Amino acid sequence: MNVADSERAATRLRSAGYELTDSSEGADVLIFNTCSVREKAERKVFQRINHVRRERAGKQPLIGIMGCVAQLEGRAVFDSSPPVRFVIGTGATDRIPELLERVEDGEERVSDLGIRQETEVWDVSPVERHSKHIAFVPVIEGCNKFCTYCIVPYSRGRERSRTAAEIVTEVRHLSDLGYKEVQLIGQNVNSYRPKAVDGLEKFSGATPFSKLLRAVASTGIPRIKFTTSFPRDFHPDIVGAIEENENLCNWIHLPVQTGSNRVLRAMRRGHQIEDYWKHVETIKNARRRISLTSDIIVGFPCETAEDFADTLGLVERCRFDGLYIFKYSERKGTPAARLTDSVSASEKASRFITLERLQTSVQEGIYNSYVGSEVTVLVEGASARASVDMTGHTACNKVVNFRGTSGLVGRLVRVRVTEAKPHSLYGEFLGAM
Ligand code: 5AD
Ligand code: SF4
Repeated sequence: MNVADSERAATRLRSAGYELTDSSEGADVLIFNTCSVREKAERKVFQRINHVRRERAGKQPLIGIMGCVAQLEGRAVFDSSPPVRFVIGTGATDRIPELLERVEDGEERVSDLGIRQETEVWDVSPVERHSKHIAFVPVIEGCNKFCTYCIVPYSRGRERSRTAAEIVTEVRHLSDLGYKEVQLIGQNVNSYRPKAVDGLEKFSGATPFSKLLRAVASTGIPRIKFTTSFPRDFHPDIVGAIEENENLCNWIHLPVQTGSNRVLRAMRRGHQIEDYWKHVETIKNARRRISLTSDIIVGFPCETAEDFADTLGLVERCRFDGLYIFKYSERKGTPAARLTDSVSASEKASRFITLERLQTSVQEGIYNSYVGSEVTVLVEGASARASVDMTGHTACNKVVNFRGTSGLVGRLVRVRVTEAKPHSLYGEFLGAM
């Protein structure tokens, strides 16, 4: 989501006449796009600002921050980090040029924490996209769920869905430009609920989101991925839509956060493990093999050794294709911050390692099962190791490396898997599609 916001900010700035540069050296203006989901990310931005200022020998740049930290801290940033001249909240991304102009006109400190206006258009220039082959397309912004540990509902505000007509038009345009993959993004994509159903009437589907999936599939773009899905709002028809449309990728990211019902309640996730398990069964029993990935937080304030054992049990049972594990990080202003943090730092670290080990062994089995099979890969570039090794992702979102030439970048190719590591596959090139 932050990458997508940076792309939008860059689009606005360039059309207002600014030139963009990849390096901070020599830049007249520096804008930091910030994340506040965990404390470490939040701390990093202020360290980076100080670092840049120390490195710069000559004229200091104008410094601004955007994103979640900007929204949450607001004008307090001016006191805690005096070099910052402008603060752009999460709803003000489209207004960056006007705000910057005020700073350049001499206004000492400028901030905008207002919401995004519905009249503001959501266009992103292809020049600013992070890839020439894969594009992020936000479908819903914000979050209404208020999980007790999470800062996002405060930093990103309430859920607002873009209209289906706007989304489908954007995907068609991307397809015409030669993009091979779109990733529909949002804090909770399956909570998609536009004000009007324009553009969705002729598509079947049990929920607005499964209708949207079918509408986007009808554009014919080769690949559509979507993330993140929220368990409580997960409807089996999402699996139905994937089964019906080859271009809806066979990968679902469905964060469970914990394997304990007691902790789920304390997190106010609004569902129980039994409900989650039903979704897992639907996904695993699909006609196409669908990859399932998840997020888990270890060391939530009331998490006992027994609760953690339940998490290990769930991970063993679900056999996730991938898992992001996080140590609980207290976020000021959230309900969980009022609970006593009962799990020591060392215990959190030890639970993290135990869970990571278990997941690695599960993943080894899953990745090994691909050896000998053929997969389709969207080639994204040369691998970090060697320029003759190309790398890309399968539709089920696994990294695949293979011997090939840079002429294949941006193409969909067939690869036979010859070797597996816990986080990536290796194979031989069979041919372009
Ligand atoms: N501490 C640790 N992890 C968190 N996440 C969200 N808030 C916190 C927090 N306070 C994790 C959740 C979420 C992912 C994006 O970040 O697992 O799914
Ligand atoms: Fe945070 Fe929960 Fe919303 Fe996800 S669903 S963004 S974890 S509040």
